Amino acid sequence: MSETIQTISKWHGGFCIEVAPLPCLIVIFGALGDLTGRKLLPSLYHLHQRGLLHEQSTLIACGRQEMSHEQYRNYIRTLDGMGKTDQLEQFLSKVFYHAGDYTLPETTARLATLVDDLENKMENQTSCRLFYLATAPAVYLPIVEQLANAGLTTELSAVTEKIVYPWRNVIFEKPFGNDFASAVELEQGLLRYLTEKQIYRIDHYLGKETVQNILMFRFANILFEPVWNRNYIDSVTITVSETVGVEHRAGYFEKAGLLRDMFQNHMLEMLSLVAMECPVSFSADRIRDEKVRLLHSIRMPDQKTLEQNLILGQYIAGNAMPGYREEAGVAHDSNTETFAALKLYIDNSRWQGIPFYLRSGKRMKQKKSEIIINFKHIPYSIFSPVKPEDLAQNRLILTVQPEEGLALDIIAKRPGPKLCMGDLTMNFKYSSILDPGENMPEAYERLLLDCMLGDQTLFIRSDSVRLAWQLLAPVLEYKKQITPFPYQAGTEGPIQAMEMIRRDGRTW
Ligand code: BG6
Repeated sequence: MSETIQTISKWHGGFCIEVAPLPCLIVIFGALGDLTGRKLLPSLYHLHQRGLLHEQSTLIACGRQEMSHEQYRNYIRTLDGMGKTDQLEQFLSKVFYHAGDYTLPETTARLATLVDDLENKMENQTSCRLFYLATAPAVYLPIVEQLANAGLTTELSAVTEKIVYPWRNVIFEKPFGNDFASAVELEQGLLRYLTEKQIYRIDHYLGKETVQNILMFRFANILFEPVWNRNYIDSVTITVSETVGVEHRAGYFEKAGLLRDMFQNHMLEMLSLVAMECPVSFSADRIRDEKVRLLHSIRMPDQKTLEQNLILGQYIAGNAMPGYREEAGVAHDSNTETFAALKLYIDNSRWQGIPFYLRSGKRMKQKKSEIIINFKHIPYSIFSPVKPEDLAQNRLILTVQPEEGLALDIIAKRPGPKLCMGDLTMNFKYSSILDPGENMPEAYERLLLDCMLGDQTLFIRSDSVRLAWQLLAPVLEYKKQITPFPYQAGTEGPIQAMEMIRRDGRTW
């Protein structure tokens, strides 16, 4: 049994560099959508509260439904976490609503007039422009085409290696394509109107503090990098488990399934950060170069070994929760996977022969996203009769959520007899360094801010997207041929996923 030492460490100084963006006109498509209401509007409001939204910045929310600016402001007032303060009223005075079918030139022409009106009121009569496509992916291209035709995305000076002001950037929600071919087609379509520097493909996991911390942890400490390889590490496991089911997203999820929804993006992104080589600098392209190199080194199971190394599952009724096939909008004979566990290898000199186990599922026992680095046993034990394999392996646990932090399992002396030892967890929780009442920043806050600063570090580059789809291709092909294993809602997933890792003498 392991004991826990609550860490007492605080930040002993450090470097915090935050830059406030220039005036920016933000246009969100999908004004009344779930993402806008739950994440984008609260994040923009928090940026405003933190003084990170320029006082001249304005927001236009575009939706299909007819409503006035004031009606939309009232809608924002009802959203969770908005409160009723003067600060909110100040924020709302910058918010405007624009109604219409986004794909029609007439709607965009009216939008262009509104943009002109708002920009003419600004000090320099111009601003940077951020377009956020929080819509169904099917309308990405038509919207961009309309924006470009109306001149709204045209940059005023040539794009160079340096950031151009005033820039025009477009954020795309995932999924970016649903396989390799559709991702390439979408990319080629967008490149007719935008440059890669204007395209911001979001993976909100990269905005999470603890995911960003992987880079700091690995490359700002002397301690870990020397052991971060096949000589000391036995295996790595990455788990993202959720308690929620498909919710109201059956239309999307039925076609996507868990592999597309979580593996193509969040899981592979976290894997890349954990396993990539040290980038030459903390800059967007150098970091993204290393991630791409890593993706190139991934060896997925081949057709012969897929059955052993890929377990797909689908939740059935259990623990007072309905099964996936009973959810609204799901076919009664659906074969869509709501759980996946995958074992893969990385072919390079750092990781040769070390297994990486990835699993993610809906309707599981607990909400948890964590990365566990399992170290090897000590080579020899001086503590006879205790053998190396009698001692628990050291483990480093990076918890992305819900309780962001990190923990290190070590072996230590226990009080009492001379030869008495046991495992101990050194536990650090981010909550211990936050001020009372302060919360971890929402991932979307970071990402919106970075886009306004023209920083693409935490966004996915086109080559990464393509490679991720390529890697997944055989797996997506294989899933068509099989029926996922059932697992009861509210459990750890199918027992076959437990067996997969147990066969190797390991656990999740
Ligand atoms: C999204 C997926 O990208 O991530 C959802 O589409 C999933 O299906 C969500 O629920 C999980 O995000 P988080 O931040 O709650 O772990």
